[in-house]
Amino acid sequence: MTPPLSDQDVARHWDANADQWADHVRRGWDAYREHLNNPAFFDLVGDLGGKSVLDAGCGEGYNTRLLAKGGARATAVDVSPRMIEIARAEEEREPLGIRYEVASFSDLPLFGDATFDAVVSSMALMDGPDLEGALREFRRVLKPAGDLFFSITHPCFMTKGFDWLRDDDGKAARLLVSGYFDAEPWVESWQFNSAPEGTAPFAVPVFPRTLSDYVNALVAGGFALREMREPRPSEEACREHPWLQPWRDHAALFLHVHAVKAAEA
Ligand SMILES: C[S@@+](CC[C@H](N)C(=O)[O-])C[C@H]1O[C@@H](n2cnc3c(N)ncnc32)[C@H](O)[C@@H]1O
Repeated sequence: MTPPLSDQDVARHWDANADQWADHVRRGWDAYREHLNNPAFFDLVGDLGGKSVLDAGCGEGYNTRLLAKGGARATAVDVSPRMIEIARAEEEREPLGIRYEVASFSDLPLFGDATFDAVVSSMALMDGPDLEGALREFRRVLKPAGDLFFSITHPCFMTKGFDWLRDDDGKAARLLVSGYFDAEPWVESWQFNSAPEGTAPFAVPVFPRTLSDYVNALVAGGFALREMREPRPSEEACREHPWLQPWRDHAALFLHVHAVKAAEA
């Protein structure tokens, strides 16, 4: 049996990815973020101006800076020390009042109970081994009725056996989904879709979960589900960026969730 991947293993992988990740994100090569994921996610998150917000799994801080520029009082954690080093360097270059700390979102003794109005986590929860621990900590550090917003790759479609079936012209004609119930973590290799051909891929530990794993963990973790969204590119966006078309025609690439800290039972 493969040994389980720990927070330390995840940190090691993301430390190795960090410099290239930061460079590519800042060049805008994460085109799904720019043209699909972020516009939809920030629409769900709404106005957090004046609120104390924890960005959980912040990476090099791209989305944390957007939260801060929107007026949030932002604190951010990532398990990768190199990611945090890069994020802090950017904070030094252009101060936005963001506090960055190295920490696992599943273990947050740095923060007292009921510290934050909102926890926001973009594209990170599927990359950590301990979802229940993360939700326990989010609930603890949130104020009563505080908001939790998170985005993840869609658990129903971005499965271990995900692939496109193409027609004779190479067009993505069907989505192949398999291995949905295979919960064994693995290290996935992928690159941003706008990165030039031949760019070295990132090595990313993934912890596959089903949709019910997420929803049941939220409910058991003391959250009330407010809304789930499955962003679908508009016709106009697909005309401008034809690589988005399969995600309009066939399936959702991302899942966005808004939940709130429920009162004690
Ligand atoms: C796909 S990146 C997303 C980064 C950032 N949220 C963004 O949108 O650019 C996932 C990040 O989650 C971090 N991560 C994974 N597991 C974590 C954990 N247990 N605690 C904190 N960060 C974690 C990784 O180090 C990595 O920086």
